[in-house]
Amino acid sequence: MKTINKLCILIAVVFIYSCTNNSVDDLIDATPIPTIVTYNDNVKSIIDNNCISCHSDPPVNGAPISLVTFEQVRNAVENNGLISRISSNDQGFLMPFGGPRLPQNLIDIITQWETDGLPED
Ligand code: HEC
Repeated sequence: MKTINKLCILIAVVFIYSCTNNSVDDLIDATPIPTIVTYNDNVKSIIDNNCISCHSDPPVNGAPISLVTFEQVRNAVENNGLISRISSNDQGFLMPFGGPRLPQNLIDIITQWETDGLPED
């Protein structure tokens, strides 16, 4: 028990010391700049690169909807489950059709776009 107490104190001291040892630069770097994801800045290029080979206007290869304009993509997020399609682990449901799944950071950007209220720019 005694050894554990000493260990706890040691960990606490190291922890407190590390907190007091930040330089001004560390504090500035550690603060992420809040950004809002927009269709024009972030989302359009992801859709253009991965989806419009089928979801063109008119759509081809059996795709039921177009994803070319801001309105079409916003509508697909709101009414056609676009985010659940790109996030799915079920190959039969996943988009892009037939896979592979988009890199997680791109899925996160589109999910963040919905959280931010689907702004155009
Ligand atoms: C190779 C062609 C192809 C690509 C690439 C593709 N899709 Fe699809 N998509 C389809 C087909 C075919 C369907 C209809 C079959 C189905 O629902 O699984 C579909 C259906 C959908 C639906 C459901 C529409 C509805 O009303 O049911 C959404 C949303 C969707 N795709 C989004 C996307 C997104 C986002 C991408 C890019 C990340 C993408 N798709 C890439 C072919 C494609």
